[in-house]
Amino acid sequence: MRITSFQQYQTDYNRSLNQPDEFWSGIAAHFTWRKKWHTVLSGDFHQVDFKWFDGAQLNITENCIDRHLKTHGNKTALIWEPNDPSGRTKTFSYSELHQAVCKTANALKSIGIKRGDTVCIYMPMIPELMFAMLACARIGAIHNVVFGGFSAQSISDRIHDAGCKYVLTADGGYRGDKKIYLKQIVDDALQTCPEVQKVLVVKQTNFDIDMKPGRDVWWSDVVSHQADSCPVEIMEAEDPLFILYTSGSTGKPKGVVHTTAGYMVWTSYTFLNVFQYNDGDVYWCTADAGWITGHSYMVYGPLLNGATVVMFEGVPSYPNWNRWWQVIDKHKVNIFYTAPTAIRSLEAQGTKHFEGTDLSSLRILGTVGEPINEEAWHWYDENVGKKKCPIVDTWWQTETGGIMISPLAGITKTIPSYATLPLPGVEPVIVDSNGNALVETFVEGNLCMKRSWPGQARTVFNDHERFKLTYFSTYQGLYFTGDGCRRDNNGNYRITGRVDDVINVSGHRIGTAEVEDALDEHPNIVESAVVGYPHAIKGQALFAFVLCNETPDSEEKLKAEINDIVIKMIGAFAKPDKVLVVSGLPRTRSGKIMRRILRKIAEGEPDKVGDITTLLNPEVVEEIKQKATLVI
Ligand code: WT7
Repeated sequence: MRITSFQQYQTDYNRSLNQPDEFWSGIAAHFTWRKKWHTVLSGDFHQVDFKWFDGAQLNITENCIDRHLKTHGNKTALIWEPNDPSGRTKTFSYSELHQAVCKTANALKSIGIKRGDTVCIYMPMIPELMFAMLACARIGAIHNVVFGGFSAQSISDRIHDAGCKYVLTADGGYRGDKKIYLKQIVDDALQTCPEVQKVLVVKQTNFDIDMKPGRDVWWSDVVSHQADSCPVEIMEAEDPLFILYTSGSTGKPKGVVHTTAGYMVWTSYTFLNVFQYNDGDVYWCTADAGWITGHSYMVYGPLLNGATVVMFEGVPSYPNWNRWWQVIDKHKVNIFYTAPTAIRSLEAQGTKHFEGTDLSSLRILGTVGEPINEEAWHWYDENVGKKKCPIVDTWWQTETGGIMISPLAGITKTIPSYATLPLPGVEPVIVDSNGNALVETFVEGNLCMKRSWPGQARTVFNDHERFKLTYFSTYQGLYFTGDGCRRDNNGNYRITGRVDDVINVSGHRIGTAEVEDALDEHPNIVESAVVGYPHAIKGQALFAFVLCNETPDSEEKLKAEINDIVIKMIGAFAKPDKVLVVSGLPRTRSGKIMRRILRKIAEGEPDKVGDITTLLNPEVVEEIKQKATLVI
């Protein structure tokens, strides 16, 4: 399963494309199955009906936990580092993780959760979040984790769409000097979700909360007395493992569905090879479990490999900007995986925060979530990696389940700002806007995938048509990623960013349509258009152009009201940085808003708006340009 040289990478890559069945059968043989598959891959991108390891039966938690007990029972599975550095670190061996997950699984059953039920998880970064995900998987329930930064409205939308009758949460959480009132947010959300029958609440902070009789139950009251073993539910290869909502160009977020066997094989294989994980390594991924990175590379991928995982409750700046470096030294972290936006905010603090820390345990560094600019790459290399740690710039998406294009640490070459080479099983193709494959080596265009890989999402929950339409209709027979990319003469890929109406703010994926829908809730806003513009720390930030019914008395006040609406409808991370009141939005003759023009203005390049003579209302462009100089 492990790639140990560049030559092997090339051989394995070619084999994965030329003899995929043999290749993936060989990889899959490393796992514990209750029944073997009869077909490795069936279906295709035309029918959009692909399946992996069909006919097989398994349980992913047996592979994440039970499988390691005989040889690694006493090995540390999880090191939990609290927000407050004077708080108590908690560690769990694989045996203890097994116990905790079994008890939680039994508790979930005792409150009525059954195989096939969808369960909403809205928790801070605490061990129970990992237990909750794995407990669902153990009993065949489908977890639907909602990131703790989402609003009540977002939770309620996700509960409705996924049909969840159960919510797992906590009384609250800490992030730096902020208190997060999770249970209160859940209570608000559930006002519009009468279908929710039970809410399990971890007592984490002792915040004063309401417990609704009959519905709300304390975690410890149902978990602590449970038996500490729980047989695994035997799942079919293509049974859904989880739903995770993600934003796209249009409409509400989609419930991306990942299934059991393929996701297991993919996250495990990619974790091992990209990070070149060695037995005994301590691995830390700073992502929140509420995003796909947390699912694949804080929970499933590392546990499938029997790794020791660090989970950190807090933020890099609390109590000081040296906190991450202290955590790395304290737990002797060997592999560290984070986001470019975090690197840039640390870079902005200077290097004084490294004083008194040595980071000598680090061997491998990774980044994910957005393109990393060369300056941040070098800063990371020099100050964190001390120029001795390969940096893996991993490109992938919620929909891909795991890493797709990335260096393999120490095995393949790294190039600043390049995700470099595709992993075995991944066959990228770059197409022009007409869908023609660009076959020369040195080209730029839209990134697609030619064939299925095991970790690929199978559908959008309850909406397979939307799945087909979003990913497989732009270019016939290809999976379209939504990203632009460039390929160099040696076949290395450089991701240039989204080519659709998705904006990546601090690594958070935001659909412009969602933010526009939120803004349009404001009584004085008739219509709005949101675009992205480059931001030194966040990568991109949001710029909102709004059309008002009446000229607002104060644009400052309007902006504050807009922020409140976005916080309420989506979450604070989706607030626009800039708001401009305009008297019209540039439109084509057919009435479509010309975002390209707004984007150029937002980017501070009004001279590059191009030809506007064919617009319905060219005169507004000049006005917007003038006004924009006031906010740029
Ligand atoms: C989008 C997916 C993948 C887990 C976290 C984000 C962008 C992701 C990179 C990278 C350039 C990247 C893409 C992609 N992206 N990684 N290494 N270099 N861009 O998952 O929320 O589904 O977002 O993030 O634009 O499409 P996500």
